[in-house]
Amino acid sequence: MIVEKITDLIGNTPMIKLKIKNNDWNVYIKLEKFNPGGSMKDRMALNMIRGAEKSGKLKPGGTIIESSSGNTAIGLAIVSAIKGYKFIAVVDHHASKEKIDMIKAYGGEIVVVGDGYKANEVAVVEREQTAKNMASKMPNSFFPNQADNEDNKYAYVDSLATELINEIDNIDEIYGAIGTGGSICGTALGIKKHNKNTKINAIEPEGSIIFGGEGKPYFQSGTGNPKDADIPKIIEYDLIDKNYYATDKEAFNTCRYFARKYGILVGGSSGGVIYKALEDLNKKQGKGNAVILVCDGGEKYLNNVYNDDWMNKNNLIDTSVEEKIKEWL
Ligand SMILES: Cc1ncc(COP(=O)(O)O)c(C=O)c1O
Repeated sequence: MIVEKITDLIGNTPMIKLKIKNNDWNVYIKLEKFNPGGSMKDRMALNMIRGAEKSGKLKPGGTIIESSSGNTAIGLAIVSAIKGYKFIAVVDHHASKEKIDMIKAYGGEIVVVGDGYKANEVAVVEREQTAKNMASKMPNSFFPNQADNEDNKYAYVDSLATELINEIDNIDEIYGAIGTGGSICGTALGIKKHNKNTKINAIEPEGSIIFGGEGKPYFQSGTGNPKDADIPKIIEYDLIDKNYYATDKEAFNTCRYFARKYGILVGGSSGGVIYKALEDLNKKQGKGNAVILVCDGGEKYLNNVYNDDWMNKNNLIDTSVEEKIKEWL
């Protein structure tokens, strides 16, 4: 394949097909880490910048300032690099070292907020306020505000959803993480136009409050919504058929097992999506097709999810997760 620029390589990510033991269900693992920035967020970063250019909110030579746990920022840093914008990412300590190093490698600047937060607390409110304030004071700047930006959600309607429709004849179930809701709601919009019977399953970390609950800290990064932050405006609840909560133990031990058993290195939040999807699919009868959206790869979590010391220090090792998956796959 020959292309003219790196953004031409966004999308058309591959899938790996697995089978559930208990029934005749196929599971298609959509590996979004094969996007240039290593996550599905490349799709929305490009679409948000295109949207802002079109509406005139972003002008040549401008500065983009965004709050991110890392993946959106990596996507924005790449698109900014090739389009000649300056990019500033506002992050907190939930952003892994690997993600921060990648943003810097693409020429992005980093502003870290969230002093005083614990390791498993995410400073979304402070991040968003800081990015918004900085953009309001800096001339020729743009705050994409991914949580409320419809261009985030619509990035997936004609790209990711279409890719699935083109490759799989009849999709019964889709499972994906929910943070801003852009990827799962955008995919749902595209899929349901084609087949309104496809069921959409959203997985958030236990402790996140998108589908209610009191809220408590969690380590899964880039997903869910903490109790003090507003629910992202782009979430369309009526598109989601079922919701689940994944514990950090379920998420991270699934990641570690998948790497060792299948050679598939997935990101922390995707471990939770895979676990909840397999648990649900194991209960089904007959045959069907399910897609699991794997937002990013494990390369960005080598210092936490895949680090034995970090996992032990946080009391996150749980071998029962692996035993369960062995029953299902
Ligand atoms: C690590 C991670 N978790 C979850 C998600 C889902 O996020 P959203 O609901 O904002 O699309 C993403 C999106 O790329 C992600 O990178």
